[in-house]
Amino acid sequence: MRAVPLERAIGKRLARTLYSSDGRVLLHAGTVLTDTYVQRLKLRGYISVYIMNELVPDLVVNDAITEVTRVKAMTRVSEAMAAIARGERIERGRVIDVVRKIISDLAESPDVLFCLSNIRSMDDYTFAHSVNVCVLAVMIGQALHFARSQLERLGVGALLHDIGKVKVPKSILQKPGRLTPHEFEVVMGHAEEGFNILRRHFDFSLFSAHVAFQHHERLDGTGYPRGLKGDAIHPFGRITAVADVYDAVTSDRVYRAKMPPHEALRMLKVEGKGRFDQEVVNKLMARVAAYPTGCIVKLSTGQLAVVVQQVAHAPDRPIVRVVTDDKYRVIEPEDLPLESCPEVTIEAVLDDFPNQVLRQLRAPT
Ligand SMILES: [Fe+2]
Repeated sequence: MRAVPLERAIGKRLARTLYSSDGRVLLHAGTVLTDTYVQRLKLRGYISVYIMNELVPDLVVNDAITEVTRVKAMTRVSEAMAAIARGERIERGRVIDVVRKIISDLAESPDVLFCLSNIRSMDDYTFAHSVNVCVLAVMIGQALHFARSQLERLGVGALLHDIGKVKVPKSILQKPGRLTPHEFEVVMGHAEEGFNILRRHFDFSLFSAHVAFQHHERLDGTGYPRGLKGDAIHPFGRITAVADVYDAVTSDRVYRAKMPPHEALRMLKVEGKGRFDQEVVNKLMARVAAYPTGCIVKLSTGQLAVVVQQVAHAPDRPIVRVVTDDKYRVIEPEDLPLESCPEVTIEAVLDDFPNQVLRQLRAPT
């Protein structure tokens, strides 16, 4: 299974069922993507989809949370935003239930390196993003040995961290081009708006409200809205800042290509030094797969391989299945644990197999 841009997915088999944010199935896993399907998905705002891998068709990639939990959580975010837009209250019970489900889904596999699903339609961007930020924040909280009650407060805050966007006009939120300074200010207002919305919900913890308030603050004081520095930023705020940026840069956007996980992690670690809490970044790196299962990599030997298994104690040295020689000729697949081959490194992550390989796969044998 691997993610490919929609236009390259025609004729291929969908590897993961696609849902709308209200939980309806759009397309079942296993469906062959026709031109019509692809056009419809495009209209819905999809940019890429997971397809089955021709050379490793049996590969199953487990998401960090179950599909049912993911869809339910997206629905809860969309309900909460709709309630606020109508001037009503968010139902605490429905939010806390799904946060508990996320916590227990994650707790079931504490030693696993996660390959987070980051395929989403642009229409559902905020909902899908909120769910991933919640999953990542809870994952980091677990790695920091937070108590259950803390995880719940963090999870609720992370799931609703962008609730203030309800107050930002859609024309600005979905503007494809560059924002004017005024528009940018309006967008930045979502952090405080979110805080005000959540703190008026007395049944939510004030700590959850502060997640919305602080998730754009940076340790060196360059963040917003208050330019808080260092310890003035609550640990929940620092965790959610890292989760927010990681998910945002690794997702499809209309205006830029997504960054592969290993680059996003490196960016947080190297360029993010001083701005992001490095203990939090280290915990993220220990739990998230730098090279997700199913992705195609070019090795330093010149061969192409598919990542087939994660190694919990070596997040950047997975087991790969070598599928071509250094001339890109398809060969009998062979598994290679990179951990025990220090001389072989991953040189690049490819979006798809080069045409030369795809032609060999289509050719009659
Ligand atoms: Fe935000």
